[in-house]
Amino acid sequence: MSTSTDYDVIIIGAGPAGYVAAIRCAQLGLKTACIDNWSNKKNHPSLGGTFVNAGCIASMALLESSKIYHLLTHDISTHGISFDHLNIDLKQMIDHKDSITHSLSEQIAMLFTHNNIDCIHAQGKLLSPGQVEIITLNNQEQSVLTAEHIILATGSRPTAPPCAIIDQKFIIDSSLALNLTKLPKKLGIIGAGIIGLELAGIWNRLGSDVILLEAQGSFLTATDEQIAEQAYQIFSNQGLDIRLGSRVISAKTVNRKVIVEYQDNEGTHAIKLDRLIVASGRQPNTDNLASEEALLILDENGFVHVDEKCCTTLPGVYAIGDLTTLGPMLAHKGLEEGIFVAEHIAEKSTPINYDIIPSVIYTSPEIAWVGQSEQALIAVGEDYKVGIFPFTASARAQTAGKTEGMVKIITHAESDVILGVHILGEYASELIAEAVLAMEFSASAEDLARTIHAHPSISEALHEAALALDSRALHLPPEN
Ligand code: NAI
Repeated sequence: MSTSTDYDVIIIGAGPAGYVAAIRCAQLGLKTACIDNWSNKKNHPSLGGTFVNAGCIASMALLESSKIYHLLTHDISTHGISFDHLNIDLKQMIDHKDSITHSLSEQIAMLFTHNNIDCIHAQGKLLSPGQVEIITLNNQEQSVLTAEHIILATGSRPTAPPCAIIDQKFIIDSSLALNLTKLPKKLGIIGAGIIGLELAGIWNRLGSDVILLEAQGSFLTATDEQIAEQAYQIFSNQGLDIRLGSRVISAKTVNRKVIVEYQDNEGTHAIKLDRLIVASGRQPNTDNLASEEALLILDENGFVHVDEKCCTTLPGVYAIGDLTTLGPMLAHKGLEEGIFVAEHIAEKSTPINYDIIPSVIYTSPEIAWVGQSEQALIAVGEDYKVGIFPFTASARAQTAGKTEGMVKIITHAESDVILGVHILGEYASELIAEAVLAMEFSASAEDLARTIHAHPSISEALHEAALALDSRALHLPPEN
């Protein structure tokens, strides 16, 4: 590639989209720099973006801690185990979470070193195609770097709705909600979407009373309706107070409490809370990403305009991950786009299949799906069949005490090709991988039915759901 520029590729942003793009570019022999501005609690550079530092990984660490605490406080006696005292040390729990995020961030730094990627802790800004301005964060030094290709990967941040101004004390965003060192007795959450539900589960298991205020009248509209209905029942039984059709109109702090006003069909209500988490969506980090002269085109919501190859309207400038509306705001979508753009630059790419991207909600039990929901197929008049296997009938799930939920497979009525797989269950995030692979290879349900699964195993539920499509499930009573 060109030797007249500082680099072949400069990437702005080291979240899952950006750091993976950097690694793949380096693997392909491109001289690569990655600019990132994230600083951790100690004011040190911390690679990995929201995903590692304040999102999925941080959330998952607390998810695991809260599940252990819940097991010890609720279900442990059924195993014949008892104890006298159990303490919870939230500060230690948060420190444990921080040590995991720190270790993963260091791992990315190590991969950068081994791949000869220049990692620059700075604020980056696109000046024009081929030119990036950097302002270093340690001494505010300003300079300009050049590259033939520039990949924008600056991710997203929580939206700040006008009805609830975040003060990071009582009205907090989802990042601070993963750093609370005092248990809020009464916790409110605006939004029963993915982030709202994940945080609700963590704090509910640790002992908070949680109220979720959700503007939409239906629960988890992106999910298969049958799965969403069962999940709603399970979460309500766990103690989550999910108020659908409840739009928050104002929130203010009075005497160290948060007074939230919301409207539903019956009128306006007010509730008093110890903390309020705002989880009402995310927006792209495109403020100040490009100079005005660069003429980078954004849509009305601030997303970067790209074609199906992640190319912006500027030559040699790409945008990936949460910055665009290509596919959902998911880490693994951004990661694949990072690989794709690196290979596109090296002229080796194959297109991303945006129709087969799995989604996971890390609640307990988890919810995971890929492909079409039943309601989406009804809406387009598709002829389909459904096979369901509940975890109550799974031997392995019974031994693990994780019998909530089901596997649901939807196939084309004539061709038997799998159109969608929806899982509600403790290991849904792992099980969905088999469904994704099957769909990537255009498998039929019969292919799954003829695939030998270990017995006993949780994965048998997919095998049984495939058999259930033709009323052949082995561990379910015959249908009438
Ligand atoms: P979301 O769009 O999933 O949910 C936000 C909810 O807030 C919506 O249901 C909306 O109706 C509700 N809402 C908005 N304003 C409201 C108001 N005034 N009163 C009551 N309800 C209100 O957004 P969320 O959960 O913040 O997630 C953002 C993105 O991050 C999603 O696209 C998600 O895909 C991604 N994400 C994915 C994760 C995963 O894969 N496990 C984890 C975390 C985030």
